[in-house]
Parts: sequence; C-alpha cells; structure tokens
Amino acid sequence: MSVPAVQDWSLRSWREKEALQQPTYPNDASLQEALDHVSALPPLVTSWEVEHLKTELARAANGERFLLQGGECAESFGDCRADAITSRLKILMQMSLVLTYGLNTRVVRVGRFAGQYAKPRSSDTETRDGTTLPSYRGDIINGAAFAPEARRPDPQRMVEAYASSSLTLNLVRALTEGGFADLRHPEYWDLDFVQHSPLADEYHAIADAIGDTIDFLETVTDEEIDSVEGVTFYTSHEALLLPYEEALSRTVPHKAGVYNLGTHLPWVGKRTNQPEKAHVEYARGIENPVGLKVGPAMTPSRLKTLIRTLDPEDEPGKLMLISRLGADAIGDKLAPLIQAVQATGQSVLWIADPMHGNTEKTDAGIKTRRFDNVLGELEQAMDIHAAEGSHLGGVHFELTGEDVTECIGGARGLSEADLGRAYESHVDPRLNYEQSMEMAFSIVRKHRRLHD
Ligand code: PEP
Ligand code: CO
Repeated sequence: MSVPAVQDWSLRSWREKEALQQPTYPNDASLQEALDHVSALPPLVTSWEVEHLKTELARAANGERFLLQGGECAESFGDCRADAITSRLKILMQMSLVLTYGLNTRVVRVGRFAGQYAKPRSSDTETRDGTTLPSYRGDIINGAAFAPEARRPDPQRMVEAYASSSLTLNLVRALTEGGFADLRHPEYWDLDFVQHSPLADEYHAIADAIGDTIDFLETVTDEEIDSVEGVTFYTSHEALLLPYEEALSRTVPHKAGVYNLGTHLPWVGKRTNQPEKAHVEYARGIENPVGLKVGPAMTPSRLKTLIRTLDPEDEPGKLMLISRLGADAIGDKLAPLIQAVQATGQSVLWIADPMHGNTEKTDAGIKTRRFDNVLGELEQAMDIHAAEGSHLGGVHFELTGEDVTECIGGARGLSEADLGRAYESHVDPRLNYEQSMEMAFSIVRKHRRLHD
C-alpha cells in the first residue's frame, strides 16, 4: 500500500477547508450513494498516461513541445454524440498539424473534454421575470433549463457525468488509435462545410507537404513511419466539484501517492485558486500535473505562495500556469507575474488562455468575445514572455468544430448581427471552426515574426 508523499495531506483534507462554488445537495444519503457508486467504478485514465503527460509538460516548459489545450467551455450530456465528439477532435487535430509544421515542434494535445461538466458561476442564483432559481452549474450538478426541477442539484448526475466521460473517451481512444488519426490521411479530419474556404486551401497545402515528407522518409528508410503515436489526446477539466474528484482519486499498485484517474490534467479555476482554500488543498496532494488559472487579481506574492504549495519539490511537468488576464490588462499584469515565477527559481509551464479575460456583453445582452482581443492577448503573451526571457509553452482555447456564431470577427468578419444565427453555447462563447484555424495560423505567423 503506497503512502501519500505530501505532508499533512490526505484525500479528504480539503474537507477541512472552505470549498467555494459547491452545490447544496438536498439529501446527504443520496449524495453518499452516488459517491459510493462513482468510487466503485473503474478509472477513466491510467497512472502511466498521467506520468507520461507530466513528462510531456516538462518538455513543453523547456520549449521541446507546444501544448494545445482546447474544447468546450462546458460539455453537456446532450453533446455526448458521435458528430460533436468527432468534429471537436478534427479541429484540434487540424490545428495541431498547423502548429507542428509551423512551429517545428511536436504538439501535445489536451482536450477540454471527457469530464468538463462543472462550471463556476459568479452568482448562486439567476432571476428571470421575477423568478429566482439556483444558477446552472454544469450538467454534472443541475440542468440548464430555467425550471425549479431542472435547477435542483441532483447527485445522480455525477454517475451520468462519469458515464458520458467514459463514452466520450472511448470514441476518442478508438478514433486516435485507428486509421482516422493517420497523418497520411488528414482528409479524414476534414469538416464538410469548409472545403472551399481560403484557410482550408492553406491547410491542405501543409497536409500535402507532410504526406510527401512521410512518403519520402518511408522510401529512403524502407520502413513504415508509425504516425499514430503523434496523435495522442489527453483529457482535462476544471477540478471544481470536489466530492466527485475525490471519488475518482485512487492509489495504484507499485506507485506512491494518489492519482486523479478521472482525467489526466485537472485544473484549478480562477474563482477557486486561493492557496488556503479547499481546491488548492485537494490539488496539492495528487500526483497528476495540475493547471492553475491566473487571472488579473493574482498578485506576484500570492503566485509565489501557490507555486510553493502546489509544487514544493519543483517536480518537472507538475505545474502549468494558465494566464487569462484580458487583452487590456495583460500588458501591465503578466511581466510582474513572470518575474515572480523566475524569482522562485522553479520551472513551470506557462500557457495562455486568451478567452476568459475577453468576455463581454453586447448591447442586446449576448455574451461574446472579439477575435481581435483574443488574438491580441495571445500575441502580447508571446511578446511579453520573449521580452522577459521566459517561455510561452502552449495555448488554451474554448472552441468547437461546428460552424457556430458566438465570437465576433475573424476572416469571415462575423458581426454582432450574426450572433443570433447559430449561437449554441449555454455558457461561454467559443471560436468556431474557421476562427480556430485562423488562430493556429496566426500563432505560427507571430512565432515567425518573433524568431526569424
Ligand atoms: C473556464 O475555463 O471555463 C473558466 C471558468 O475559466 P476561469 O476559471 O479562468 O474563469
Ligand atoms: Co469558459
């Protein structure tokens, strides 16, 4: 039996701290029943995969890999369908191909999927036309419909979230292990509605060049290139609903410590990243690599405390800082935070989430993000890291392979008036297929301007 290596920590020690953003379940017995059920179910991922990802993140921190993390703001049970899952994989694969080629670096792919079901909310309640109900907190907790029975937290939803995660991961694993992921056939990843867009042409030129290179290498080496290894996907989600995360955290034979085997890469969100509270307490003891959202309220001294708390041994690949400061604030805020990290002497992976600091509401009350602000924050992050002698090792996007109209701008110049056409998100607005591809090409262009 292995013993947790972390001082004064146990899998339940978060329960002694204040846990923000948790639902109030109507009945303790039914909560316990659901948790017992989830605790008895098999793990979704393995400790080997988790350790392998840690190695990859350590490489990304050193500039030997580039991390692409992306997916839905919130998955929904209704989206656990083949078309939604495959189109999300396709866009992530296409972006990663552009990044691999353009940055000349292997890309580590991490999906915001197979467990991204819990959402932090700024208010506990929502009022519409004089009626007040609990806020929607993600499908793992309650339903999005504005009705009392839908909004009541139901612990059985944890069992359903586990099942949907498992079904999603099953398809992801099957597709990426099979011919779908073959780099020689990137046409398998094409999404029907974009065949004739200018970006698709640019993309196909890269895909053809890669195909030619593989053919050439196979000819000269007289061996088949194993291209499948190149398209592994890791899973990630916000570790928000702590009883659920606890139920999926396990010891494993022949290894010390406790692994969260519900996902490879749990992260702590901006609203729950206080060093003295329950989410950081949970995260500091597990063996997984951990992401930490860094918002505009983060101070250099608090960031140092968090680094000491979450990664006291300076373990390679353990800690990933995800800056989400906003295009307006990043110019002032990022450099002092980078300097604080440098002062610790520790090696952490910095990535940029240019989505969450750039959410705004239109006059009509629709939540949106402007492509130019998203790209603007990303380009500034690249500039500031370069100027500080630091390294930006990856990016984090909310995106979808569908042709939605939730963010303004991009090559097709989506305007405020277009938002009504195909706005599907229940939570944050996502980049659509073309906006996501454009983002990948823009990262490459900016990288070349900085380094050539
Ligand atoms: C999110 O990633 O969906 C999220 C809520 O982010 P943040 O914690 O950065 O606000
Ligand atoms: Co979001």
